[in-house]
Amino acid sequence: MSLSEQTNKCFNLSGRDFIELTDYTTEEIQYLIDLAIEIKRKQKNGEEYQPLKGKTVGLIFEKSSTRTRVSFEVGTYQLGGHALFLSKNDIQLGRGETIADTAGVMSRYLDGIMIRTFGHDKVVDLARYATVPVINGLSDLAHPCQVLADFQTIYEYKGELKGLKLAYVGDGNNMAHSLMIGGAKLGVHVSVASPEGYEPDPQIVVDAQEIAKATGAVIEVVRDPKAAVQDADVIYTDVWASMGFEEEQKTRENAFKDYQVDEQLAKCAKPDYLFMHCLPAHRGEEVSEGVIDGENSIIFDQAENRLHAQKALMAALIG
Ligand code: CP
Ligand code: NVA
Repeated sequence: MSLSEQTNKCFNLSGRDFIELTDYTTEEIQYLIDLAIEIKRKQKNGEEYQPLKGKTVGLIFEKSSTRTRVSFEVGTYQLGGHALFLSKNDIQLGRGETIADTAGVMSRYLDGIMIRTFGHDKVVDLARYATVPVINGLSDLAHPCQVLADFQTIYEYKGELKGLKLAYVGDGNNMAHSLMIGGAKLGVHVSVASPEGYEPDPQIVVDAQEIAKATGAVIEVVRDPKAAVQDADVIYTDVWASMGFEEEQKTRENAFKDYQVDEQLAKCAKPDYLFMHCLPAHRGEEVSEGVIDGENSIIFDQAENRLHAQKALMAALIG
């Protein structure tokens, strides 16, 4: 029996929310990655796989998006379902309707809801009041869909995850948080290098270190980017000013000036290191053109895997 035939039998993820990887066991995350790889193969071979036939997924966006919007819309379509793009400008949530009422109403129409928003509490509240699965499509605190696709990508390239080292250089933001939690769950060492004042949330570091005790992953926050990148299998970075922090751009350019991932820094990593970035990227800021457009960069593979990983997620939770 293939993984997709086993969906919801072995792991019974049906009806679950996906708010952060902390809520999923190592085995469940590995299962979702394996399922994503199987679904990717099916799509490449032209095999039909439509567990969302007759189902509708709502996509609430309170922030901009290219990858998340397109991959969720296309993914839902490919699974046989229908996706609704719900911009905050067009729904009553943007005019003050409560999250509880929005969740209650939407649960009567939809089979699943994805939300991209600012405060993480909003995602948590939506999940609390909705009776259908809620997927976090990015909050200020976490970006688990991205990280699921990222670990799928690393697994495809390296053939393993446990024992690898991922260096994250830059802002201790939503990406840094979800990479630490995901790494801890999967046994991937994660070394984060951030300038003073821009470190990851200390509680999330502690949570990740606690989770890591079971997998042997080393989760650390350092100051020196070279120390983080030393012998790394993967170098990861993200924008210096995330969505919602645009007005801090100038201050941040100054604070992060020694944190660019460039050819010199990349020399500290293993020769066959992978360069990753969730995108969108700012060339000449967090990463040099030579690195992001160089031969170690796998940015488009990871972007593609958003589609496959989220199809696996929707099939398991909503299908
Ligand atoms: N990486 C990512 O989530 O991209 P978008 O903001 O374009 O969705
Ligand atoms: N940290 C970035 C990620 C974008 C996908 C942001 O929140 O804007």
